[in-house]
Amino acid sequence: MKILILGSGGREYSIARAISNEEEGHELFFQPGNGATSALGENLNIKDYNDLAEFAKTNAIELTIVGPEAPLVDGVVDIFKSKGLTIFGPGKEAAQLEGSKVYMKNFLAKYNIPTARYIETSSIEDAFKFTDTLSAPIVVKADGLCGGKGVIIAQNHDEAKVAISEMLSGKSFGDAGLKVIVEEFLDGYELSMFAVCDGDDYILLPAAQDHKRLLNNDEGPNTGGMGAYAPTPLVDEVLYQKVKDRIIRPTLDGMQKEGAPFEGVLFIGIMVVNGEPITLEFNVRFGDPECEILMPLMTSSVSDMFLKASTNRLSEIKVEFSSQYAVGVVMASGNYPYGSSTPAEIIVDESHHEEINDFTHISYAGVSEEDGVLYADGGRVLVCVGLGESIKQARDRAYLRCGQVHFAGKKIRTDIAYQAL
Ligand code: AMP
Ligand code: GLY
Repeated sequence: MKILILGSGGREYSIARAISNEEEGHELFFQPGNGATSALGENLNIKDYNDLAEFAKTNAIELTIVGPEAPLVDGVVDIFKSKGLTIFGPGKEAAQLEGSKVYMKNFLAKYNIPTARYIETSSIEDAFKFTDTLSAPIVVKADGLCGGKGVIIAQNHDEAKVAISEMLSGKSFGDAGLKVIVEEFLDGYELSMFAVCDGDDYILLPAAQDHKRLLNNDEGPNTGGMGAYAPTPLVDEVLYQKVKDRIIRPTLDGMQKEGAPFEGVLFIGIMVVNGEPITLEFNVRFGDPECEILMPLMTSSVSDMFLKASTNRLSEIKVEFSSQYAVGVVMASGNYPYGSSTPAEIIVDESHHEEINDFTHISYAGVSEEDGVLYADGGRVLVCVGLGESIKQARDRAYLRCGQVHFAGKKIRTDIAYQAL
């Protein structure tokens, strides 16, 4: 197939890598891609979605896969579909499940899907009044997309009120904060679950855990994610069933009733509180770095899953997963997540170690390429992925691979998957 992938991260690289490994040959294009995707296909530079759809038409692209949320919220799927193209991802309206936290919370409430008690408002008085009914910590969220930074966990009421004031005045997040959610703090453990959906049916992938904080022991600032592993033993069949019955099914049914059937990846951020799954948030795309560890666990065709999901035919296929575990360790640049770093040459030692060659690989993210040399030039630079028969084995292998990758300022967490060990 001729496949176009939108995005430039490790998530998109890992999807492309999985598709490249399929027996039937595929031709890949990336918009814009990164310094390593150019080894898997052709990087494009066509920013306008109408022009990109024209390119897809002219070049007989059979499937387009959208990685990040921004093009989805901007309506790239609607544009491609209006030109008769096949594209994987939710349309603009369904993408509101991620694009607007207010839309998401109101949807959850309307369809009785478990979520934290909340108020949605642009009135400072109402927000303060509700805050006073909660006990600390208190969670304050900006409505719109804030690049993962729009959630404040306030340790006391005063801190919550400052966060509310700064959001509603537009000071902290501009227009994205002109409506806020104030909600109760949920105390439990967090999971990332991914359902690949075709509007009616879905395939639930193995549950993963992300590591959002920069430093070991979940300390330091929030990041896009410093590592992930799957499947997590923290989910048993009973919990999977609860997530399906109480969250995924009602969401797909609800979105149909809303006239916006959900196609694409439903990423459910879950807090498990006393054994009960509560919805923290929805995203409408794969998590990063979760995607990097889920793709290598799929033993059936990844491209076919995306194609069937985009054409309402998921019920025709059986998606299969390996019995192995995968652990991914993110390698970030020196100033991440505070600012950019000077591009640094990446050196990967040649490996003569069978275990490393057979059971690990690198998913490249924030990299550029010049004269055959890769440079670390983004925040999260790459993910070292290890596979194994146990989480420990997968993790040991991922760290073996980390030992072979060098660039100035490289930064990793050394405790990925600690929750499971
Ligand atoms: P969100 O962008 O909504 O996923 O929030 C980012 C992070 O904030 C989540 O991954 C959680 O770790 C944390 N968080 C969000 N909402 C809550 C809540 N109600 N209780 C506890 N932690 C939360
Ligand atoms: N790893 C979490 C995210 O992609 O939002």
